[in-house]
Amino acid sequence: MCGIIGYTGARATLPLLLEGLARLEYRGYDSAGVALLPGRGGDGILATRQVMMAPATIVVRKAAGRLDRLQQLLRKHPPEQDLNGFTGSGVIFTTGIGHTRWATHGPPTDSNAHPHLDCRRRVAVVHNGIIENTLSLREELLSRGHRFTSETDTEVIAHLLEEALATGQGMYCAWLQVVARLKGAFALAALTADAPGSIWLARFSSPLVVGRGADGWLVASDIPALLPYTREVYVLQDREAAELLPDQARFFSFNGESLTKVPQTVAWELEQAEKGGFPDFMLKEIHEEPAVVRRLLTRYYPATGDGPDLGLPWGDGWWAQRRKLWIVASGTAAHAGLMAKYWLERVAGLPVEFDVASEFRTREPLLSQRDLALVISQSGETADTLAGLRLCRARGVPTLGIVNVPTSSIARESAAVLLTEAGPEIAVASTKAYVAQLVVLALLALRVAQARARHAAGVAAEAGGTPVVLPEDSGTWRQQLERGLTVLPTAIEELLGRQVVIDPRIVEKLASSEHVFYIGRGLDYAAAVEAALKLKEITYIHAEAYAAGELKHGPLALIGPGTPVVGILTQDELISRTLANLHEVKARHGWVVGVGPQHAVASDEAAFLDAYIQIPPLPGPARPVLAAPALQLLAYMVARARGTDVDRPRNLAKSVTVE
Ligand code: M6R
Repeated sequence: MCGIIGYTGARATLPLLLEGLARLEYRGYDSAGVALLPGRGGDGILATRQVMMAPATIVVRKAAGRLDRLQQLLRKHPPEQDLNGFTGSGVIFTTGIGHTRWATHGPPTDSNAHPHLDCRRRVAVVHNGIIENTLSLREELLSRGHRFTSETDTEVIAHLLEEALATGQGMYCAWLQVVARLKGAFALAALTADAPGSIWLARFSSPLVVGRGADGWLVASDIPALLPYTREVYVLQDREAAELLPDQARFFSFNGESLTKVPQTVAWELEQAEKGGFPDFMLKEIHEEPAVVRRLLTRYYPATGDGPDLGLPWGDGWWAQRRKLWIVASGTAAHAGLMAKYWLERVAGLPVEFDVASEFRTREPLLSQRDLALVISQSGETADTLAGLRLCRARGVPTLGIVNVPTSSIARESAAVLLTEAGPEIAVASTKAYVAQLVVLALLALRVAQARARHAAGVAAEAGGTPVVLPEDSGTWRQQLERGLTVLPTAIEELLGRQVVIDPRIVEKLASSEHVFYIGRGLDYAAAVEAALKLKEITYIHAEAYAAGELKHGPLALIGPGTPVVGILTQDELISRTLANLHEVKARHGWVVGVGPQHAVASDEAAFLDAYIQIPPLPGPARPVLAAPALQLLAYMVARARGTDVDRPRNLAKSVTVE
């Protein structure tokens, strides 16, 4: 959440900052701002460090609300106005930082928007994260006469810098002195009028990436903002800092040791971060799902007939010795994990404990070094999930990260990593990354099942080893899941290629409802939980998922005439039971919709349904993955019918880097 962008070089920085902020919009924000320093562009990147033709004045513009409010302000009060007539002499702003804020300390107002300045207006700072010792620092600074103009935690940093610089030391020493005083999570970018042309960076727990453009250096909190300028990125790690100059970057640790950093090449293309003719990112990303699944199968499922090849460092015996698998994730990634619990237990006979990361990190889980922690995250930066990973590592539990962003903290800190290869996901509502997570998790279940089955056969032959007991039908499940995955891309294509995927009556009904319920059993329950999240986050309709069998234990009281209930019916052995629960809803005059293959509603038993969303044929254990695009489209169409901002739902952020 929140976005940082910065540039120093030979070109005018403002258009670049605004484009960068627009590319970071999906991170979620409620206000935005920029701080600029003048240089003399157009005649080489050294110009900004030559004799200044304008006074080194930090010009700041900030506004609560969306970026267009900031743009309006910049049109009304162009930054040049603050340079007292120097504009005619070729002066342009060549160093700048920008920020989109998501309120933590203080409401979203113009004054709380970043950048924040010190008392003398010689230092400007933008910050993602939370400074936890802000109260004591603020009191200290107030007692020494500093005047605060915002309620934010960030402003203390500007005043601390002011004090450190007032002692006569240079910005390098001042910067290290200040970051050493901060507790909490922070990605920081700062500039000072005393050393124009430099941008100062520091990172602890919030992401920050640096890139070298053709004519200067850039920094951003996320890779998509850098894609128009470079594919080579330097990822700052915890307790690392940097100074960006127009013609070079220097990296150093919080201890002041100089660091040599090697750039990583990002495989993402700029087009992947563009809408490509679709009205919004969410619809585009749903339509990318077949390609994403194909890419994953090519990477992890070679046609050798030996099953998945995930390149993990663990052999059959290791898998056989696992006592338990923990799944730790948040939001949609957690829902992918819930689905995987059913696969892993049924196919691989491995007990799985599932937890949302925010609970896991605070509940003293009974971990053992014979367990494996599976940590799932699209961004790889979610604070709760990262904390869960670190907790496991601290207890000596092996960790496996399933991550979409290869340069992320979770990718870096997990003992082993499986990449979900979905490309940049821009819409706040996760769609293609969820499908990719499901596919990787299904492949993992197959790999673990294969390892444990092979080990069981070997141990039986030798006698006396640790016996692995696989469920009786694990072989059938394994075959069906494997077959289902291989035809999944075509099945999703068939679904998305239909003229009418979702009956407009369902869209109309849901769009005019205040409450919607999703029910299912087993894998379908996991699919229902995700479907409800998707609907609530982009339509603002109250949507809830229940295990179908739980309805009678309370939720039935919520069903009144016309209340929509969507039943997911992809699992053959559970269809009759879930239909029976839908029948109970119908008896209370609810409006019932089914989702599943054609044969699920072939009998009279299902004739009472008010509407049906049909998915193409696919072997049973893989069917809930195919239900995902259908249920995502349903949420999408209801959101469009209600006129909400599909890509940027209110109050939400793409990457939640605070606890
Ligand atoms: O980046 P992560 O996968 O760790 O994010 C976890 C959740 O914040 C995320 O899935 C969230 O629930 C999405 N908005 C759901 O669409």
